[in-house]
Parts: sequence; structure tokens; C-alpha cells
Amino acid sequence: MNGLPLDPAPADMRAMGEAVVEYLVGFIGGLDDAPAAATEGATELASELRQPPPEHGGGFDALLGDVRDAIAHTFEYAGPGYLAYIPGGGLYSAALADFIAQGVNRYVGLWMPSPAVVQLEENVTRWLCELYGMGDRSQGVLTSGGSTANLSAVVTARHAKLGDDFTDGTYYVSEQAHASVTKAATIAGFSRKNVRIVPTDAELRMDPAALGDMIAEDRAAGMHPFLVVPSAGTTNTGAIDPLDEIADVAAGQELWLHVDAAYGGFFQLTERGKERFAGIERADSVTVDPHKGLFLPYGTGALVVRDGAALRDAHYEGAAYLQDLPPSGELPNYSEYSTELSRDWRGLRVWMPLKLHGVAAFREALDEKLDLAEELDVAFRADPNLELPWATQLTVTPFRLRDGDDAANEELLRRINASKRVFLSSTRVHGRFTLRVCIVSHRTHRDRIDECIAIVRDATRSLRGTG
Ligand SMILES: Cc1ncc(COP(=O)(O)O)c(C=O)c1O
Repeated sequence: MNGLPLDPAPADMRAMGEAVVEYLVGFIGGLDDAPAAATEGATELASELRQPPPEHGGGFDALLGDVRDAIAHTFEYAGPGYLAYIPGGGLYSAALADFIAQGVNRYVGLWMPSPAVVQLEENVTRWLCELYGMGDRSQGVLTSGGSTANLSAVVTARHAKLGDDFTDGTYYVSEQAHASVTKAATIAGFSRKNVRIVPTDAELRMDPAALGDMIAEDRAAGMHPFLVVPSAGTTNTGAIDPLDEIADVAAGQELWLHVDAAYGGFFQLTERGKERFAGIERADSVTVDPHKGLFLPYGTGALVVRDGAALRDAHYEGAAYLQDLPPSGELPNYSEYSTELSRDWRGLRVWMPLKLHGVAAFREALDEKLDLAEELDVAFRADPNLELPWATQLTVTPFRLRDGDDAANEELLRRINASKRVFLSSTRVHGRFTLRVCIVSHRTHRDRIDECIAIVRDATRSLRGTG
């Protein structure tokens, strides 16, 4: 038999580890100059890599070569020019935390086998609970992302407000809500018809008066309104629903208030964010994604719930084979509060960067993103070839070619992305093709946004034949 033993010799472990560190240091160092997207030949490469695992293993260097090649043929998610969808980041400190967490493979689903390990993760969820004013009885869980956090929130609200007989339950989202909130309906046992789509105002924010009317109509029709899900920053345009007014409606109607802050949530660390999210501290639960606003690797979401017992009631299932392990006490058994039993120790990849860099570093980076978005908004508004139908409420700036049809806007996107210095994405709002810039990455700074402004200006001029 050849190939590496399952536990390699110390020298081999060291050599492989050093090769990986060397690669990552070079990778991160090269991000400023890397193309914002490099997908030419990527599907051909994918076909070449299509193969089952070998019976006998091969050398690490060759494998690392394949991995590096696959990574080099992608969108540059981690780079400063990635302004599409909701950018992430990828902190080196989080990669190190993951390396440790995977290497030691400690279990965090139940507290008793590793209380101090769970405590480090619990420090993160307590901090998140405090960030949104969730109070002493609250509980948080780290999830794989915002979608699973939203699902758990819907299930928790359903369980707390409706019990087992929930088929008449209705919940309320704006037409701009993230798909995961409506998708949660079917997974949580509702018909999609039970999700009510509340109209928005001119700035694409949920209309609280319309919400109140819809709830009243549903009650009159014998339905059971139980939940409203406003967004603290929509994915499409960054719109912030009027959280305080919606909280008034929710309180008056005894609805569960879940705020989807997956994208925008960490702007709460900044003064401007706190002001714009006024009312979020009245929520029953909040979804927030550290793999967005804390620049962490994908696979790191969070849900915080004011009434921790309600979260547990909705997710707890006893099991005889776990009888040796005590229930939640001083520390939580996360498996009692979430959909997962076995999972990675994702808390370490949040805790370690927070401790190492300090909260101020994240606050400053997020403040910088707000500044950059304002700069971009002003520059785009000054461009006679562009129209900005909506205000930049956080760090998403939606825009279109003035008087351009969908095909012209699609062509504009193609030309911008052909620059390879920035990579934008598009959406549809009220049926119309709309481009958007989304600034989240800690690696995006003024130089790249100035470049983005120039690229967009040149692309519109060349499209209009005026440049
Ligand atoms: C507002 C909002 N909610 C939910 C999600 C889903 O989060 P995830 O992709 O982490 O599942 C996103 C993702 O972009 C989002 O922007």
C-alpha cells in the first residue's frame, strides 16, 4: 500500500502545514492584483477534475496543486473587487481557528464533555445577544448561515405562538424579503399561501400601515397571524424596514417579531447602523451572519432569541443514548436549541478573530464601508448616464442606465465585469433589471471604489457611444 498514513509522521504533518500556510499567505497577499472573477475554462477544469477517489492515495503537493487550480478559476470572493451578491471576506485568523478546531475535533453540541470549549462559543452568542438588547433570558446559536437561522426563527415563532395546530397561521414579510424567509414556510410545514407579502413604500421598505390592514383582514377571515419578519438591510437594495413602527404593530397584535439582519446586522456596531436600526432591540429574535458583516468564512450564521426557553422548546428532542450527559444548565447544550447535533466548532472562528483584532477593528471596517457606499452613491448620482431609483440605505447601491432597457443594462453589467477589477451582480426590482454594488468586504477600500466608479462611468459612456 502506498499513500499517506491516516496519521502522518510529524515531519510530514509539518511539511504539509507549512505548504498550506505558504499558499495562504501568498493567496491573501495577491488578492489586490487578482482578477475579480476568473471563470474562463472553469467548467472544463471541473470536468477534468471529475473522478472518484483512488484506492491508494497520492502525494500532497500534487493535490494542493489541483486545489489551487480549482480555486484560481472562480469569482474572487475574498478580494477587494468582489462587490456582488453579499460579499464575505475570509480572515486569516478565522482560517487558523478552523485549522485548530478541525484538528482537535472538539464537540460542542453538548456542554458537559467540553465546558470551556463551549464557553468560548457561548462568549460569542452572549455578545451577539447583548448587541441586539436581547436581555438575560436570551439564547443564541451559531448556525451554518442566515437561511438556517431564519428557518429556526420561523419554527420557534410558530411553536411559541401557535403550538401544534398551526395550519391557519400566517406570517408577514415584505416583497423584498430574502428568499430564505419565504422558503422557511414550506420547510416549517406551512403552505406558501400562509406567507403574506406586505407592500413597500417608495424606498422599498415594508409599509407598517399595510401590514396592520393585512393582519386585520386575515384575523377577520379566521386565520392566525403570528409572525412578522422585517429586514435590517434587504439583499436586493439594502432597504431597512421601519423596525420601530413594525415593532409597534407586532406588539399591538401579539405577533412574534423576527428581524432578518443577515446582511446588515453587524452595522449595529456603528453609530449610523444603530440609528438606522432603531427598534431592533424590541425584536423577539434576530438573524445575523458573521460570514457577512464580520468577514468570516462561509458557514457562520447566528440566531439570537429573547426568550431562550422558546428556542429550546421548539428544538428540543430527548434521546436515551444521550442520558449520560446532563441537560443545559450554566452552559447550553446547543443541540437542544438548534437543528444540529454534531457540527463543527464554529464558535472558535468567531471568538478568535474578535479577541485577536478587537471589536473596534470590525467597527472601523464597517464604518469605512458605510463611507464608501455614500461616496459611491454621490458619484453615481452625479453621472448623467445613470439613474438611482432608491437611496443607498446601507452599503448596497442599486442603479440602472438612464433610459436603458433590460438588454442595455445587462450589457452594462457585462462590460463592467469584463474589467476584472470589480465584479457586480444584478437583480430585478418590480420586474426591471437592476445592477447593484454591495460593499462589505474588509478588503474593499477607497482606491477600489474609486476604480469602480471610473469603470462604471467608462462602461456607460462606451455603451452610449459618448466615450
Ligand atoms: C437579508 C438576508 N437574509 C438571509 C440571507 C441568507 O443567508 P445565508 O446565505 O447565510 O444562508 C441572506 C444572504 O445573502 C441575506 O442577505
